[in-house]
Amino acid sequence: MSVRHFLSLTDCSPTELQLIIQRAIELKRQRQTGQAQETLKGRVLGMIFEKASTRTRLSFEAGMFHLGGHSIFLSPRDTQLGRGEPLADSSIVMSSMLDAVMIRTFAHATLTEFAKHATVPVINGLSDDLHPCQLLADLQTFTELRGAIQGKTAVWIGDGNNMCNSYIEAAVQFDFNLRIACPKGYEPDPQLVACAGQRVSITDDPQQAVQGAHLISTDVWASMGQEDQAQARMAEFRPFQVSKELLDLAADDVLLMHCLPAHRGEEVSLDVLDDPRAVVWQQAENRLHAQKALLEFLINPALYQHG
Ligand code: CP
Ligand code: NVA
Repeated sequence: MSVRHFLSLTDCSPTELQLIIQRAIELKRQRQTGQAQETLKGRVLGMIFEKASTRTRLSFEAGMFHLGGHSIFLSPRDTQLGRGEPLADSSIVMSSMLDAVMIRTFAHATLTEFAKHATVPVINGLSDDLHPCQLLADLQTFTELRGAIQGKTAVWIGDGNNMCNSYIEAAVQFDFNLRIACPKGYEPDPQLVACAGQRVSITDDPQQAVQGAHLISTDVWASMGQEDQAQARMAEFRPFQVSKELLDLAADDVLLMHCLPAHRGEEVSLDVLDDPRAVVWQQAENRLHAQKALLEFLINPALYQHG
């Protein structure tokens, strides 16, 4: 069988995604009760970071360690990648020494090009287009707190960015409704929206979008690589700030998520992350558990074949 990659949520079937989330919940319980097993003993993950990270690096690095494996942090500044060694050549060499490679990059094509030549799994740790690992953690968090998300209504508020694109893919894979409230001109990838059909709608009215919502998720107004646009975006995005008053318009049991890092006073009001409806710390911790389940799925798939 050819090697499996995780560049997008669509690289797994809905059933596989559910299995990964159930396994993440189980791994979390095992860690809390001191029953962890070394399912990736002796395996090595390479991690290429072309952009900054706190959660993604920590969760992959700690996760590999917990599972008995090891990880190697690779920055373009210190590797030959930064001096122009072709992605294809790097991919062949890294595949011969590693058991999986995680890449955080700018152009999504960097991931697809690397994966094309890789003989070990390649994981998208965030690109300009998608952030699928974050969605595993978000869906784990919703499942833990509210049960299945199927048929529920989620609302994305803010920029139609990499996170928003991954929410669209999640709506299809997990069968929930997604309303996107974004300023005109900042809509997500139109192809993804078209593929999602009836499940996804777009508006520029956040108050209307959140009516009856079970989940609200937001993110920074300027992503990594868009720093020069940050000031100009501020005025356009101001009406899209998530506040307690906005949450009050949603369902009584609404959850607020944010992939973090957050800019308090910008996309979230100064106090809303302290509201009991905000679950961002649990969501951040779940990066660890969800990615451990993903690493097992990709590196040691036999674990999943026996239920
Ligand atoms: N949410 C997220 O990916 O965080 P980092 O940028 O800190 O990895
Ligand atoms: N949209 C943000 C997510 C950070 C985790 C970015 O790409 O910078």
